[in-house]
Amino acid sequence: MSNESSGVSNGSSGVSDGSSDVSNGSSDVSDEGQGDGTWVKVADLSECPPGQLLEVEAEKERIVLANVDGDLYALQNRCSHQDLPLSDGELDGDRLECLYHGARFDVCTGKAVGLPAIKPVETYAVELRGQEIYVQI
Ligand code: FES
Repeated sequence: MSNESSGVSNGSSGVSDGSSDVSNGSSDVSDEGQGDGTWVKVADLSECPPGQLLEVEAEKERIVLANVDGDLYALQNRCSHQDLPLSDGELDGDRLECLYHGARFDVCTGKAVGLPAIKPVETYAVELRGQEIYVQI
């Protein structure tokens, strides 16, 4: 039960409680002018209920959101095996299984945990602001 790997934390990964310094203007895209990237609204929470995956796009990046019992994670939506969309796969706890050849990934870290994939997929920081899901690109 480490906070470090939890999706909901004050750390730089997973979901935080929205108390960060990101602007809360009416735009869907807010650039905080510091940190690593731009926060982009990608979905409403209702679109990605617990146990589900959701394909989204932000700044031309294809991303798959994963809701693990209320904790949100975001990964590159390209399997590291053959670049096929991970959003076609299934979420099993915090493991995402690729539909195509059965590779498994830890959605918290992006690490490949089941063959045939051996390389990780990129992960993104996620923040829930009210009912809106933002990803940092
Ligand atoms: S493309 Fe995902 S396991 Fe092959």
